[in-house]
Amino acid sequence: MCLLYAFFVLLSLSYGFDPNCPGRCSCDSEQSVQCYRLTEVPSGIPSTTKKLYVSHSKIQHLQLSNFTQMSALEDFILLASGTESVENDTFKTLSTLKTLELWKNKLRRVPSALPASLEVLKLNDNSIYVLHRSDFEGLKKLKILELKNNLISSLSPSMLSSLVSLQSLVLDSNNIESVNGPLALPHLKYLSMENNKLHLIPASFFTSLQSLQFLSFSSNFLTKIPINLPKSLLSLKMERNRLKVVRFRDMKHLENLSHLYLSENSLSSIDGAQLLANLTTLELSQNQLQTLPLRLPARLQKLDISNNLIQKVTAQDFQDLRDLKHLFLDNNIVSLFEAGALQRCSQLSNLALEQNLLLSIPLRLPATLARLDLKGNAIQDIAERELKDLKQLQVLNLRNNKISALDLKALEVLPRLRHLYLDGNPWNCTCSLLRAREVLKAKGTDVRGGQCAAPAERQGESWMSSKKIMRQCEHHLHLTEKSKETKKKPKPEEHSSIRINVDDDYYDYEID
Ligand SMILES: *[C@@H]1O[C@H](CO)[C@@H](O)[C@H](O)[C@H]1NC(C)=O
Ligand SMILES: *[C@@H]1O[C@H](CO)[C@@H](O)[C@H](O)[C@H]1NC(C)=O
Ligand SMILES: *[C@@H]1O[C@H](CO)[C@@H](O)[C@H](O)[C@H]1NC(C)=O
Ligand SMILES: *[C@@H]1O[C@H](CO)[C@@H](O)[C@H](O)[C@H]1NC(C)=O
Ligand SMILES: *[C@@H]1O[C@H](CO)[C@@H](O)[C@H](O)[C@H]1NC(C)=O
Repeated sequence: MCLLYAFFVLLSLSYGFDPNCPGRCSCDSEQSVQCYRLTEVPSGIPSTTKKLYVSHSKIQHLQLSNFTQMSALEDFILLASGTESVENDTFKTLSTLKTLELWKNKLRRVPSALPASLEVLKLNDNSIYVLHRSDFEGLKKLKILELKNNLISSLSPSMLSSLVSLQSLVLDSNNIESVNGPLALPHLKYLSMENNKLHLIPASFFTSLQSLQFLSFSSNFLTKIPINLPKSLLSLKMERNRLKVVRFRDMKHLENLSHLYLSENSLSSIDGAQLLANLTTLELSQNQLQTLPLRLPARLQKLDISNNLIQKVTAQDFQDLRDLKHLFLDNNIVSLFEAGALQRCSQLSNLALEQNLLLSIPLRLPATLARLDLKGNAIQDIAERELKDLKQLQVLNLRNNKISALDLKALEVLPRLRHLYLDGNPWNCTCSLLRAREVLKAKGTDVRGGQCAAPAERQGESWMSSKKIMRQCEHHLHLTEKSKETKKKPKPEEHSSIRINVDDDYYDYEID
Protein backbone atom coordinates (compact mmCIF):
# COMPACT_ATOMS: atom_id res chain seq x y z
CA MET A 1 0.00 0.00 0.00
CA CYS A 2 2.75 2.35 1.11
CA LEU A 3 4.82 1.40 -1.86
CA LEU A 4 1.95 2.01 -4.18
CA TYR A 5 1.47 5.48 -2.74
CA ALA A 6 5.13 6.30 -3.11
CA PHE A 7 4.94 5.11 -6.67
CA PHE A 8 2.10 7.48 -7.46
CA VAL A 9 3.87 10.44 -5.86
CA LEU A 10 6.96 9.67 -7.89
CA LEU A 11 4.90 9.25 -11.02
CA SER A 12 3.11 12.54 -10.58
CA LEU A 13 6.35 14.37 -9.78
CA SER A 14 7.99 12.95 -12.84
CA TYR A 15 5.16 14.40 -14.96
CA GLY A 16 5.76 17.85 -13.47
CA PHE A 17 2.85 17.86 -11.03
CA ASP A 18 3.64 20.41 -8.35
CA PRO A 19 2.35 19.52 -4.92
CA ASN A 20 2.75 23.19 -3.97
CA CYS A 21 0.09 24.41 -6.33
CA PRO A 22 -1.28 27.74 -4.97
CA GLY A 23 -4.70 27.80 -3.32
CA ARG A 24 -7.75 28.09 -5.62
CA CYS A 25 -5.60 26.88 -8.47
CA SER A 26 -5.16 23.55 -10.11
CA CYS A 27 -1.84 22.67 -11.65
CA ASP A 28 -1.57 19.95 -14.21
CA SER A 29 1.20 17.97 -15.73
CA GLU A 30 1.69 20.12 -18.80
CA GLN A 31 2.88 23.13 -16.82
CA SER A 32 -0.57 24.55 -16.96
CA VAL A 33 -2.18 26.34 -14.00
CA GLN A 34 -5.85 27.34 -13.73
CA CYS A 35 -7.15 29.60 -10.97
CA TYR A 36 -10.57 30.95 -10.01
CA ARG A 37 -11.85 33.54 -7.55
CA LEU A 38 -8.50 35.12 -6.74
CA THR A 39 -7.89 38.61 -5.41
CA GLU A 40 -4.34 38.86 -6.73
CA VAL A 41 -1.97 36.93 -8.96
CA PRO A 42 -0.72 34.36 -6.47
CA SER A 43 2.88 34.00 -5.52
CA GLY A 44 4.18 30.46 -5.69
CA ILE A 45 3.16 29.69 -9.24
CA PRO A 46 5.73 27.11 -10.34
CA SER A 47 8.44 28.82 -12.37
CA THR A 48 8.11 26.15 -15.05
CA THR A 49 4.51 27.15 -15.76
CA LYS A 50 3.84 27.65 -19.44
CA LYS A 51 0.16 28.43 -19.29
CA LEU A 52 -1.60 30.47 -16.64
CA TYR A 53 -5.38 30.80 -16.82
CA VAL A 54 -7.19 33.00 -14.29
CA SER A 55 -10.88 33.78 -14.43
CA HIS A 56 -13.79 35.14 -12.41
CA SER A 57 -11.46 36.86 -9.98
CA LYS A 58 -11.07 40.35 -8.56
CA ILE A 59 -7.65 41.56 -9.60
CA GLN A 60 -7.86 45.30 -10.08
CA HIS A 61 -4.24 45.87 -10.94
CA LEU A 62 -1.49 43.78 -12.50
CA GLN A 63 2.09 44.44 -11.43
CA LEU A 64 5.47 43.72 -12.85
CA SER A 65 6.38 41.88 -9.65
CA ASN A 66 3.52 39.42 -10.23
CA PHE A 67 5.31 37.87 -13.19
CA THR A 68 9.01 38.06 -12.38
CA GLN A 69 9.11 34.37 -11.43
CA MET A 70 7.36 33.13 -14.53
CA SER A 71 10.21 33.02 -16.95
CA ALA A 72 8.74 30.13 -18.98
CA LEU A 73 5.26 31.60 -19.44
CA GLU A 74 3.85 31.20 -22.95
CA ASP A 75 0.13 31.82 -22.47
CA PHE A 76 -1.47 34.16 -19.98
CA ILE A 77 -5.24 34.37 -19.94
CA LEU A 78 -7.03 36.64 -17.49
CA LEU A 79 -10.77 36.56 -17.94
CA ALA A 80 -13.58 38.43 -16.22
CA SER A 81 -11.49 39.63 -13.33
CA GLY A 82 -12.26 43.36 -13.16
CA THR A 83 -8.73 44.35 -14.07
CA GLU A 84 -8.45 48.11 -14.61
CA SER A 85 -4.76 48.71 -15.07
CA VAL A 86 -1.47 47.07 -15.82
CA GLU A 87 1.78 48.51 -14.50
CA ASN A 88 4.18 49.72 -17.20
CA ASP A 89 6.48 46.99 -18.51
CA THR A 90 4.67 44.18 -16.68
CA PHE A 91 4.99 41.77 -19.60
CA LYS A 92 8.18 43.19 -21.07
CA THR A 93 10.57 40.57 -19.77
CA LEU A 94 8.38 37.55 -20.51
CA SER A 95 10.44 36.70 -23.54
CA THR A 96 8.60 33.44 -24.27
CA LEU A 97 5.07 34.87 -24.04
CA LYS A 98 3.09 33.97 -27.15
CA THR A 99 -0.52 34.47 -26.13
CA LEU A 100 -1.92 37.25 -23.99
CA GLU A 101 -5.67 37.34 -23.44
CA LEU A 102 -7.18 39.88 -21.08
CA TRP A 103 -10.89 39.45 -21.87
CA LYS A 104 -13.84 41.01 -20.13
CA ASN A 105 -11.94 43.36 -17.90
CA LYS A 106 -11.93 47.12 -17.45
CA LEU A 107 -8.75 48.10 -19.22
CA ARG A 108 -8.68 51.60 -20.67
CA ARG A 109 -5.55 51.11 -22.71
CA VAL A 110 -3.41 48.43 -24.29
CA PRO A 111 -0.78 47.23 -21.77
CA SER A 112 2.58 48.85 -22.51
CA ALA A 113 5.83 47.28 -23.66
CA LEU A 114 4.50 43.93 -24.83
CA PRO A 115 7.20 41.37 -25.60
CA ALA A 116 8.33 40.83 -29.19
CA SER A 117 7.54 37.12 -28.91
CA LEU A 118 3.78 37.77 -28.80
CA GLU A 119 1.69 36.06 -31.50
CA VAL A 120 -1.85 36.40 -30.15
CA LEU A 121 -3.27 39.41 -28.33
CA LYS A 122 -6.94 39.41 -27.33
CA LEU A 123 -8.31 42.39 -25.44
CA ASN A 124 -12.01 41.92 -26.17
CA ASP A 125 -14.67 43.38 -23.87
CA ASN A 126 -12.68 46.16 -22.21
CA SER A 127 -12.92 49.95 -22.28
CA ILE A 128 -9.97 50.73 -24.51
CA TYR A 129 -10.78 53.97 -26.30
CA VAL A 130 -7.69 54.72 -28.31
CA LEU A 131 -4.86 52.87 -30.01
CA HIS A 132 -1.34 54.30 -30.16
CA ARG A 133 1.49 53.39 -32.44
CA SER A 134 3.59 52.69 -29.36
CA ASP A 135 1.09 50.08 -28.12
CA PHE A 136 2.23 47.61 -30.76
CA GLU A 137 5.83 48.68 -31.27
CA GLY A 138 8.10 45.76 -32.03
CA LEU A 139 5.34 43.13 -32.25
CA LYS A 140 6.73 41.69 -35.45
CA LYS A 141 5.37 38.22 -34.76
CA LEU A 142 1.83 39.18 -33.81
CA LYS A 143 -0.62 37.25 -35.97
CA ILE A 144 -3.93 37.77 -34.21
CA LEU A 145 -5.23 40.98 -32.68
CA GLU A 146 -8.73 41.13 -31.24
CA LEU A 147 -10.24 44.28 -29.75
CA LYS A 148 -13.92 43.45 -29.97
CA ASN A 149 -16.34 45.40 -27.85
CA ASN A 150 -14.21 48.35 -26.75
CA LEU A 151 -14.61 52.10 -27.24
CA ILE A 152 -12.19 52.82 -30.07
CA SER A 153 -13.40 55.65 -32.30
CA SER A 154 -10.92 55.79 -35.15
CA LEU A 155 -8.37 53.70 -36.97
CA SER A 156 -5.37 55.04 -38.83
CA PRO A 157 -2.50 53.25 -40.56
CA SER A 158 0.20 54.46 -38.18
CA MET A 159 -1.42 52.73 -35.20
CA LEU A 160 -0.84 49.30 -36.66
CA SER A 161 2.24 49.87 -38.78
CA SER A 162 4.49 47.67 -36.64
CA LEU A 163 2.33 44.59 -37.13
CA VAL A 164 4.03 43.25 -40.22
CA SER A 165 2.90 39.65 -39.62
CA LEU A 166 -0.70 40.35 -38.64
CA GLN A 167 -3.16 37.89 -40.19
CA SER A 168 -6.36 38.56 -38.30
CA LEU A 169 -7.74 41.84 -36.95
CA VAL A 170 -11.09 42.02 -35.18
CA LEU A 171 -12.51 45.42 -34.23
CA ASP A 172 -16.21 44.55 -33.98
CA SER A 173 -18.50 46.54 -31.69
CA ASN A 174 -16.45 49.68 -31.14
CA ASN A 175 -17.37 53.27 -31.99
CA ILE A 176 -15.25 53.56 -35.08
CA GLU A 177 -16.50 56.44 -37.21
CA SER A 178 -13.58 56.87 -39.53
CA VAL A 179 -10.77 54.87 -41.00
CA ASN A 180 -7.78 56.01 -43.00
CA GLY A 181 -5.58 54.17 -45.41
CA PRO A 182 -3.56 52.59 -46.58
CA LEU A 183 -3.49 50.00 -43.87
CA ALA A 184 -0.07 48.46 -44.45
CA LEU A 185 -0.73 44.89 -43.33
CA PRO A 186 0.58 42.73 -46.15
CA HIS A 187 -0.33 39.41 -44.51
CA LEU A 188 -3.75 40.32 -43.19
CA LYS A 189 -6.27 37.67 -44.23
CA TYR A 190 -9.18 38.41 -41.94
CA LEU A 191 -10.55 41.86 -41.09
CA SER A 192 -13.78 42.39 -39.23
CA MET A 193 -15.19 45.79 -38.27
CA GLU A 194 -18.80 44.81 -37.65
CA ASN A 195 -21.09 46.95 -35.61
CA ASN A 196 -19.29 50.28 -35.76
CA LYS A 197 -20.32 53.70 -37.07
CA LEU A 198 -18.66 53.78 -40.44
CA HIS A 199 -20.24 55.91 -43.16
CA LEU A 200 -17.44 55.75 -45.68
CA ILE A 201 -14.38 53.68 -46.43
CA PRO A 202 -11.76 55.63 -48.38
CA ALA A 203 -10.51 53.93 -51.55
CA SER A 204 -6.93 54.04 -50.29
CA PHE A 205 -7.82 51.89 -47.27
CA PHE A 206 -7.21 48.62 -49.09
CA THR A 207 -4.21 49.39 -51.27
CA SER A 208 -1.77 47.51 -49.02
CA LEU A 209 -4.01 44.66 -47.99
CA GLN A 210 -2.99 42.33 -50.76
CA SER A 211 -3.69 39.10 -48.83
CA LEU A 212 -7.15 39.92 -47.47
CA GLN A 213 -9.64 37.06 -47.89
CA PHE A 214 -12.41 37.71 -45.36
CA LEU A 215 -13.81 41.19 -44.86
CA SER A 216 -16.80 42.22 -42.82
CA PHE A 217 -18.34 45.66 -42.49
CA SER A 218 -21.73 44.38 -41.37
CA SER A 219 -23.82 46.64 -39.12
CA ASN A 220 -22.42 50.02 -40.11
CA PHE A 221 -23.91 53.02 -41.94
CA LEU A 222 -22.36 52.38 -45.32
CA THR A 223 -24.29 53.45 -48.39
CA LYS A 224 -21.83 51.96 -50.89
CA ILE A 225 -19.74 48.88 -51.20
CA PRO A 226 -16.17 50.17 -50.83
CA ILE A 227 -14.25 50.48 -54.06
CA ASN A 228 -10.74 49.13 -54.56
CA LEU A 229 -11.45 45.94 -52.63
CA PRO A 230 -8.46 43.57 -52.69
CA LYS A 231 -8.46 41.02 -55.50
CA SER A 232 -7.71 38.27 -53.01
CA LEU A 233 -11.15 38.49 -51.31
CA LEU A 234 -13.12 35.29 -50.85
CA SER A 235 -15.88 36.58 -48.61
CA LEU A 236 -17.45 40.00 -48.18
CA LYS A 237 -20.05 40.79 -45.54
CA MET A 238 -22.03 43.99 -45.86
CA GLU A 239 -25.20 43.03 -44.01
CA ARG A 240 -27.18 45.60 -42.07
CA ASN A 241 -25.92 48.72 -43.79
CA ARG A 242 -27.66 51.32 -45.93
CA LEU A 243 -26.89 50.04 -49.39
CA LYS A 244 -29.34 51.16 -52.05
CA VAL A 245 -27.44 49.88 -55.08
CA VAL A 246 -24.58 47.49 -55.74
CA ARG A 247 -22.29 48.30 -58.62
CA PHE A 248 -20.92 44.93 -59.62
CA ARG A 249 -18.73 46.60 -62.22
CA ASP A 250 -16.63 47.94 -59.35
CA MET A 251 -16.23 44.40 -58.04
CA LYS A 252 -15.53 42.44 -61.16
CA HIS A 253 -11.82 42.16 -60.35
CA LEU A 254 -12.79 39.96 -57.36
CA GLU A 255 -12.33 36.79 -59.33
CA ASN A 256 -12.22 34.51 -56.28
CA LEU A 257 -15.09 36.04 -54.33
CA SER A 258 -17.31 33.12 -53.34
CA HIS A 259 -19.49 34.52 -50.53
CA LEU A 260 -21.33 37.82 -50.63
CA TYR A 261 -23.69 38.85 -47.84
CA LEU A 262 -25.99 41.80 -48.51
CA SER A 263 -28.98 41.06 -46.30
CA GLU A 264 -30.80 43.80 -44.41
CA ASN A 265 -30.02 46.72 -46.67
CA SER A 266 -32.24 48.88 -48.85
CA LEU A 267 -31.64 47.28 -52.19
CA SER A 268 -34.49 47.56 -54.64
CA SER A 269 -32.79 45.88 -57.58
CA ILE A 270 -29.76 43.78 -58.37
CA ASP A 271 -28.22 43.59 -61.79
CA GLY A 272 -24.82 42.46 -62.99
CA ALA A 273 -23.98 39.89 -60.32
CA GLN A 274 -22.93 37.49 -63.07
CA LEU A 275 -19.66 39.45 -63.18
CA LEU A 276 -18.70 37.62 -60.00
CA ALA A 277 -18.18 34.39 -61.84
CA ASN A 278 -17.03 32.35 -58.86
CA LEU A 279 -19.73 33.40 -56.42
CA THR A 280 -21.33 30.40 -54.70
CA THR A 281 -23.32 32.09 -51.92
CA LEU A 282 -25.40 35.22 -52.30
CA GLU A 283 -27.56 36.48 -49.45
CA LEU A 284 -30.05 39.24 -50.14
CA SER A 285 -32.62 38.68 -47.44
CA GLN A 286 -34.57 41.63 -46.02
CA ASN A 287 -34.19 44.12 -48.81
CA GLN A 288 -36.81 45.68 -51.06
CA LEU A 289 -36.35 43.61 -54.16
CA GLN A 290 -39.47 43.38 -56.30
CA THR A 291 -38.00 41.11 -58.92
CA LEU A 292 -35.42 38.35 -58.89
CA PRO A 293 -31.93 39.54 -59.85
CA LEU A 294 -31.23 39.54 -63.55
CA ARG A 295 -28.33 37.37 -64.64
CA LEU A 296 -27.10 35.61 -61.55
CA PRO A 297 -23.63 34.05 -61.34
CA ALA A 298 -23.65 30.59 -62.89
CA ARG A 299 -21.81 28.86 -60.04
CA LEU A 300 -24.28 29.90 -57.36
CA GLN A 301 -25.06 27.16 -54.84
CA LYS A 302 -27.04 29.12 -52.30
CA LEU A 303 -29.34 32.04 -52.96
CA ASP A 304 -31.21 33.63 -50.09
CA ILE A 305 -33.66 36.23 -51.27
CA SER A 306 -36.21 35.75 -48.50
CA ASN A 307 -38.10 38.65 -46.95
CA ASN A 308 -38.34 40.81 -50.04
CA LEU A 309 -41.20 41.82 -52.31
CA ILE A 310 -40.79 39.27 -55.09
CA GLN A 311 -44.02 38.58 -56.95
CA LYS A 312 -43.09 36.05 -59.58
CA VAL A 313 -40.64 33.33 -60.38
CA THR A 314 -40.01 32.50 -64.03
CA ALA A 315 -37.85 29.99 -65.88
CA GLN A 316 -35.74 32.82 -67.21
CA ASP A 317 -34.67 33.78 -63.70
CA PHE A 318 -32.99 30.46 -63.06
CA GLN A 319 -32.01 29.13 -66.44
CA ASP A 320 -28.25 29.14 -65.84
CA LEU A 321 -28.09 28.06 -62.22
CA ARG A 322 -27.14 24.43 -62.60
CA ASP A 323 -25.27 24.22 -59.31
CA LEU A 324 -27.97 25.75 -57.12
CA LYS A 325 -28.63 23.61 -54.04
CA HIS A 326 -30.45 25.94 -51.64
CA LEU A 327 -33.01 28.50 -52.66
CA PHE A 328 -34.75 30.67 -50.07
CA LEU A 329 -37.70 32.59 -51.44
CA ASP A 330 -39.78 32.57 -48.30
CA ASN A 331 -41.59 35.64 -46.97
CA ASN A 332 -42.16 37.33 -50.28
CA ILE A 333 -45.39 37.91 -52.18
CA VAL A 334 -44.92 35.28 -54.86
CA SER A 335 -48.23 34.51 -56.49
CA LEU A 336 -46.92 33.38 -59.86
CA PHE A 337 -44.50 30.49 -60.07
CA GLU A 338 -44.00 29.38 -63.65
CA ALA A 339 -44.25 25.62 -64.24
CA GLY A 340 -40.76 24.19 -64.57
CA ALA A 341 -39.11 27.46 -63.48
CA LEU A 342 -36.44 25.53 -61.59
CA GLN A 343 -36.10 22.60 -63.97
CA ARG A 344 -32.55 23.55 -64.96
CA CYS A 345 -31.43 23.58 -61.33
CA SER A 346 -30.54 19.93 -61.34
CA GLN A 347 -28.89 19.97 -57.91
CA LEU A 348 -31.58 21.78 -55.97
CA SER A 349 -32.29 20.04 -52.68
CA ASN A 350 -33.81 22.71 -50.49
CA LEU A 351 -36.59 25.04 -51.59
CA ALA A 352 -38.15 27.48 -49.14
CA LEU A 353 -41.35 29.08 -50.37
CA GLU A 354 -43.16 29.57 -47.11
CA GLN A 355 -45.17 32.71 -46.43
CA ASN A 356 -46.03 33.64 -49.98
CA LEU A 357 -49.26 33.89 -51.94
CA LEU A 358 -49.23 30.63 -53.87
CA LEU A 359 -52.57 29.05 -54.68
CA SER A 360 -51.11 25.69 -55.65
CA ILE A 361 -47.90 23.68 -55.45
CA PRO A 362 -45.66 24.78 -58.37
CA LEU A 363 -45.56 22.28 -61.20
CA ARG A 364 -42.45 20.44 -62.38
CA LEU A 365 -40.17 21.15 -59.48
CA PRO A 366 -36.72 19.53 -59.73
CA ALA A 367 -36.69 15.82 -58.87
CA THR A 368 -33.68 16.39 -56.57
CA LEU A 369 -35.66 18.25 -53.90
CA ALA A 370 -35.25 16.82 -50.40
CA ARG A 371 -37.11 19.56 -48.58
CA LEU A 372 -39.99 21.67 -49.78
CA ASP A 373 -41.50 24.29 -47.52
CA LEU A 374 -44.83 25.76 -48.57
CA LYS A 375 -46.13 26.76 -45.19
CA GLY A 376 -48.38 29.79 -44.97
CA ASN A 377 -49.55 30.06 -48.57
CA ALA A 378 -53.09 29.77 -49.90
CA ILE A 379 -52.84 26.29 -51.39
CA GLN A 380 -56.21 24.57 -51.64
CA ASP A 381 -55.35 21.09 -52.76
CA ILE A 382 -52.56 18.68 -53.47
CA ALA A 383 -52.50 17.01 -56.85
CA GLU A 384 -50.58 13.98 -57.93
CA ARG A 385 -49.10 15.74 -60.96
CA GLU A 386 -47.48 18.35 -58.73
CA LEU A 387 -45.59 15.87 -56.62
CA LYS A 388 -45.08 12.80 -58.74
CA ASP A 389 -41.46 13.55 -59.74
CA LEU A 390 -40.22 14.32 -56.24
CA LYS A 391 -38.71 10.92 -55.54
CA GLN A 392 -36.10 12.37 -53.18
CA LEU A 393 -38.49 14.45 -51.10
CA GLN A 394 -38.11 13.85 -47.37
CA VAL A 395 -39.80 16.84 -45.80
CA LEU A 396 -42.95 18.49 -47.09
CA ASN A 397 -44.40 21.37 -45.14
CA LEU A 398 -47.93 22.41 -46.08
CA ARG A 399 -48.91 23.81 -42.71
CA ASN A 400 -51.25 26.81 -42.60
CA ASN A 401 -52.72 26.57 -46.06
CA LYS A 402 -56.29 26.12 -47.22
CA ILE A 403 -56.33 22.40 -47.87
CA SER A 404 -59.47 20.55 -46.84
CA ALA A 405 -59.06 17.17 -48.53
CA LEU A 406 -56.18 14.85 -49.36
CA ASP A 407 -55.74 13.00 -52.61
CA LEU A 408 -54.11 9.82 -51.42
CA LYS A 409 -52.55 9.13 -54.78
CA ALA A 410 -50.61 12.39 -54.55
CA LEU A 411 -48.83 11.28 -51.40
CA GLU A 412 -48.34 7.66 -52.28
CA VAL A 413 -45.96 8.71 -55.04
CA LEU A 414 -43.38 10.06 -52.58
CA PRO A 415 -41.19 7.07 -51.64
CA ARG A 416 -38.84 8.87 -49.25
CA LEU A 417 -41.24 11.16 -47.44
CA ARG A 418 -40.42 11.15 -43.72
CA HIS A 419 -42.08 14.30 -42.42
CA LEU A 420 -45.34 15.77 -43.57
CA TYR A 421 -46.73 18.88 -41.91
CA LEU A 422 -50.43 19.36 -42.58
CA ASP A 423 -51.71 21.14 -39.52
CA GLY A 424 -53.32 24.55 -39.70
CA ASN A 425 -55.48 23.56 -42.66
CA PRO A 426 -59.28 23.54 -42.68
CA TRP A 427 -59.69 19.78 -42.87
CA ASN A 428 -62.93 18.25 -43.92
CA CYS A 429 -62.73 15.13 -41.78
CA THR A 430 -64.45 12.60 -43.95
CA CYS A 431 -63.81 8.91 -43.52
CA SER A 432 -61.66 8.94 -46.62
CA LEU A 433 -59.37 11.49 -45.00
CA LEU A 434 -59.00 9.01 -42.20
CA ARG A 435 -58.05 6.37 -44.69
CA ALA A 436 -55.30 8.64 -45.97
CA ARG A 437 -54.08 8.77 -42.41
CA GLU A 438 -53.85 5.00 -42.29
CA VAL A 439 -51.83 4.80 -45.47
CA LEU A 440 -49.36 7.46 -44.38
CA LYS A 441 -48.85 5.84 -41.03
CA ALA A 442 -48.32 2.46 -42.61
CA LYS A 443 -45.58 3.99 -44.76
CA GLY A 444 -43.83 5.34 -41.67
CA THR A 445 -44.26 8.99 -42.52
CA ASP A 446 -44.40 11.25 -39.49
CA VAL A 447 -47.52 13.34 -40.03
CA ARG A 448 -48.74 16.40 -38.20
CA GLY A 449 -52.37 16.51 -39.11
CA GLY A 450 -54.06 19.26 -37.21
CA GLN A 451 -57.72 19.75 -36.56
CA CYS A 452 -60.97 19.28 -38.39
CA ALA A 453 -62.89 22.33 -39.58
CA ALA A 454 -65.76 20.28 -41.00
CA PRO A 455 -68.14 18.52 -40.72
CA ALA A 456 -69.67 20.48 -37.91
CA GLU A 457 -69.84 17.59 -35.45
CA ARG A 458 -66.15 16.86 -35.83
CA GLN A 459 -64.88 20.44 -35.61
CA GLY A 460 -61.83 20.78 -33.40
CA GLU A 461 -61.13 17.05 -33.35
CA SER A 462 -57.63 16.01 -34.27
CA TRP A 463 -57.97 13.92 -37.41
CA MET A 464 -54.78 11.97 -36.77
CA SER A 465 -55.90 10.69 -33.43
CA SER A 466 -59.56 11.28 -32.70
CA LYS A 467 -61.14 8.12 -31.28
CA LYS A 468 -64.53 9.54 -31.97
CA ILE A 469 -63.93 9.87 -35.70
CA MET A 470 -62.25 6.50 -35.78
CA ARG A 471 -65.29 4.89 -34.22
CA GLN A 472 -67.60 6.65 -36.61
CA CYS A 473 -65.50 5.57 -39.60
CA GLU A 474 -64.90 2.05 -38.42
CA HIS A 475 -67.22 0.58 -40.98
CA HIS A 476 -65.51 2.56 -43.71
CA LEU A 477 -62.08 1.41 -42.62
CA HIS A 478 -63.16 -2.23 -42.41
CA LEU A 479 -64.03 -2.08 -46.04
CA THR A 480 -60.49 -1.07 -46.85
CA GLU A 481 -59.01 -4.03 -45.01
CA LYS A 482 -57.03 -1.74 -42.74
CA SER A 483 -59.13 -2.45 -39.71
CA LYS A 484 -56.62 -4.75 -38.04
CA GLU A 485 -53.94 -2.12 -38.00
CA THR A 486 -56.34 0.44 -36.69
CA LYS A 487 -57.27 -1.71 -33.79
CA LYS A 488 -53.79 -2.70 -32.92
CA LYS A 489 -52.45 0.79 -32.58
CA PRO A 490 -54.90 3.02 -30.73
CA LYS A 491 -52.69 3.61 -27.72
CA PRO A 492 -49.60 5.20 -29.26
CA GLU A 493 -51.80 7.30 -31.54
CA GLU A 494 -53.63 8.74 -28.65
CA HIS A 495 -50.34 9.38 -26.96
CA SER A 496 -49.06 11.37 -29.90
CA SER A 497 -52.17 13.49 -29.95
CA ILE A 498 -51.23 14.92 -26.60
CA ARG A 499 -47.94 16.14 -27.96
CA ILE A 500 -49.35 17.78 -31.03
CA ASN A 501 -48.39 21.37 -30.89
CA VAL A 502 -50.75 23.72 -32.60
CA ASP A 503 -48.58 26.80 -32.80
CA ASP A 504 -45.58 25.00 -33.90
CA ASP A 505 -42.78 26.55 -35.82
CA TYR A 506 -40.19 24.99 -33.63
CA TYR A 507 -39.94 21.64 -35.34
CA ASP A 508 -39.84 22.99 -38.86
CA TYR A 509 -36.09 22.79 -39.22
CA GLU A 510 -35.10 20.22 -36.70
CA ILE A 511 -34.22 17.72 -39.36
CA ASP A 512 -32.06 18.22 -42.40
C1 LIG B 1 0.72 40.96 -7.31
O1 LIG B 1 0.05 42.19 -7.48
C2 LIG B 1 -0.73 42.60 -6.36
C3 LIG B 1 -1.44 43.85 -6.76
O2 LIG B 1 -2.43 43.50 -7.70
C4 LIG B 1 0.14 42.78 -5.15
O3 LIG B 1 -0.65 43.15 -4.05
C5 LIG B 1 0.84 41.45 -4.87
O4 LIG B 1 1.74 41.61 -3.79
C6 LIG B 1 1.58 40.99 -6.10
N1 LIG B 1 2.11 39.65 -5.85
C7 LIG B 1 3.37 39.32 -6.08
C8 LIG B 1 3.76 37.91 -5.83
O5 LIG B 1 4.18 40.13 -6.50
C1 LIG C 1 4.00 54.41 -18.27
O1 LIG C 1 4.28 54.54 -19.66
C2 LIG C 1 3.67 55.65 -20.26
C3 LIG C 1 3.96 55.61 -21.75
O2 LIG C 1 4.60 54.47 -22.14
C4 LIG C 1 4.16 56.93 -19.64
O3 LIG C 1 3.51 58.04 -20.23
C5 LIG C 1 3.89 56.90 -18.14
O4 LIG C 1 4.44 58.03 -17.55
C6 LIG C 1 4.46 55.63 -17.54
N1 LIG C 1 4.05 55.56 -16.15
C7 LIG C 1 4.90 55.36 -15.17
C8 LIG C 1 4.28 55.32 -13.81
O5 LIG C 1 6.07 55.23 -15.37
C1 LIG D 1 -7.60 32.94 -56.74
O1 LIG D 1 -7.51 31.62 -56.24
C2 LIG D 1 -6.50 30.87 -56.85
C3 LIG D 1 -6.61 29.45 -56.34
O2 LIG D 1 -6.65 29.42 -54.96
C4 LIG D 1 -5.16 31.49 -56.58
O3 LIG D 1 -4.13 30.77 -57.18
C5 LIG D 1 -5.16 32.91 -57.08
O4 LIG D 1 -3.96 33.54 -56.73
C6 LIG D 1 -6.32 33.67 -56.51
N1 LIG D 1 -6.40 34.97 -57.10
C7 LIG D 1 -6.15 36.08 -56.42
C8 LIG D 1 -6.26 37.35 -57.15
O5 LIG D 1 -5.85 36.07 -55.24
C1 LIG E 1 -12.54 31.31 -60.53
O1 LIG E 1 -11.58 30.84 -59.59
C2 LIG E 1 -10.53 30.12 -60.16
C3 LIG E 1 -9.63 29.63 -59.05
O2 LIG E 1 -10.35 29.16 -57.99
C4 LIG E 1 -9.77 31.00 -61.10
O3 LIG E 1 -8.73 30.26 -61.70
C5 LIG E 1 -10.69 31.54 -62.16
O4 LIG E 1 -10.01 32.47 -62.93
C6 LIG E 1 -11.90 32.20 -61.54
N1 LIG E 1 -12.83 32.50 -62.58
C7 LIG E 1 -13.12 33.73 -62.90
C8 LIG E 1 -14.06 33.89 -64.03
O5 LIG E 1 -12.70 34.70 -62.31
C1 LIG F 1 -66.80 17.61 -46.87
O1 LIG F 1 -66.82 16.48 -47.71
C2 LIG F 1 -68.10 15.98 -48.01
C3 LIG F 1 -67.96 14.67 -48.76
O2 LIG F 1 -67.09 14.83 -49.85
C4 LIG F 1 -68.89 17.03 -48.77
O3 LIG F 1 -70.16 16.58 -49.03
C5 LIG F 1 -68.93 18.30 -47.94
O4 LIG F 1 -69.57 19.33 -48.66
C6 LIG F 1 -67.56 18.74 -47.53
N1 LIG F 1 -67.66 19.84 -46.61
C7 LIG F 1 -67.00 20.95 -46.77
C8 LIG F 1 -67.17 22.01 -45.74
O5 LIG F 1 -66.21 21.12 -47.70
